[in-house]
Amino acid sequence: MEQYIIKGGNELRGEVEIGGAKNAALGILAAAIMTDEEVLIENLPDVRDVNVMLEAMSQIGVKVDRVSSHSVILCGENIGDVNIEYEYIKKIRASYYLLGALLGKYKKAEVPLPGGCNIGSRPIDLHLKGFKALGAKVSIRNGSICAEAEHLRGCHLFLDTVSVGATINIMMAASMAEGRTVIENCAKEPHVVDVANFLNSMGANIKGAGTDVIRIVGVERLHKTEYSIIPDQIEAGTFMFAAACTHGDVLVKNVIPKHLEATISKLLEIGCRVEEYDTAVRVIAPKRLSCANVKTLPYPGYPTDMQPQIGVALAMAEGTSIVTESIFENRFKYLDELARMGATSKVEGNTAIITGSDRLTGARVSAPDLRAGAALVIAGLAAEGITTIDDIVYIQRGYEAFDEKLRGIGAQIECVSSHREARKFTLKVG
Ligand code: UD1
Repeated sequence: MEQYIIKGGNELRGEVEIGGAKNAALGILAAAIMTDEEVLIENLPDVRDVNVMLEAMSQIGVKVDRVSSHSVILCGENIGDVNIEYEYIKKIRASYYLLGALLGKYKKAEVPLPGGCNIGSRPIDLHLKGFKALGAKVSIRNGSICAEAEHLRGCHLFLDTVSVGATINIMMAASMAEGRTVIENCAKEPHVVDVANFLNSMGANIKGAGTDVIRIVGVERLHKTEYSIIPDQIEAGTFMFAAACTHGDVLVKNVIPKHLEATISKLLEIGCRVEEYDTAVRVIAPKRLSCANVKTLPYPGYPTDMQPQIGVALAMAEGTSIVTESIFENRFKYLDELARMGATSKVEGNTAIITGSDRLTGARVSAPDLRAGAALVIAGLAAEGITTIDDIVYIQRGYEAFDEKLRGIGAQIECVSSHREARKFTLKVG
């Protein structure tokens, strides 16, 4: 089992390049199978979730030609099967996007019902509500969602909760429905816009993505395209907090600063200096961070996927902070791990009260999930001494070459797979 081993205390300095957005990639890969023609996707992040998604797609007959680690050519012409295997959905929930894509294209799809996950119960009732409104019959059989329709017909739909997944899934199916669909109370995340732009580049007619209301006029067929995925705002934000927590000075390159507004605003509030350029942001951290209150919200609010990273910063800040998690119910598990490193916090319902301490000390901790794992890496980089992180497979789901990129800005971190390698690292760093 691989682990990260970190010697903390180095101020991170230098430049880091951000890859394509994982969450946009997952929607775009699914949408790509809606045409029978070839689609070239570039700026694809080489992370585990994306690779599992490609496997799931090739299992149903999609031709997957990985032209390089960051680009792929897909062809959905010979899809022989509209059933996705449980093995894939277990590994990656977002393979449920294939439900909307297959339903839109073939008017039929079968995808295992994803269960809960480490950050909460995560229902998909809104996705199904959307498919039903489009005229599909949806049933649960033997653990799978079966969706089927003679014809999909455009509809007017209001989403009770703002959901990224439901917005993307319904948008995909509606792109190939007959007539006009209006989805209200949509998610406005940059990756919703990216999937819409991608579908439009294949000939779909989607307007309003990035606002509360998306209007779609269905088309009969979609065609080939070439598309480059937007930069990953969460990967960028993670490096920005790594700079903040290590008193660092890091230029984060290949980003869209507009997508980082909520993150930048919190970094300023906790005492960092942030310089914005056209496609880069520079974070210059003070010697001691200040406390702040934060509440996670749908975009353009502060992202839930950046909650653990700011939690680590607040655990080292001067004063007491309140963090309110309003999207997922179980996203404070990292605080128990952080307590082993000397952090003080108390969780009550969806609120964590974090009292900053002036130093964290290295410990052996486990990554509870993807973003929490990345946050523990940040904690390890900021802490005194050695930190070992178990279960890094979660982190590898969404961060490409995380340790390598961190080493590039001065971190002492290694991915090790044996006790011997870990010992070698500790001897090297002294
Ligand atoms: C996506 C992101 C995830 C991010 C989340 C919120 C992907 C692959 N994942 O997840 O990284 O943390 O957005 O920004 O893009 N809900 C319902 N019923 C539904 C669907 C959602 O009640 O049918 C609720 C959820 O429980 C949650 C809220 O809506 O409380 C938002 O979830 P949603 O935006 O759907 O998250 P995901 O798309 O799963």
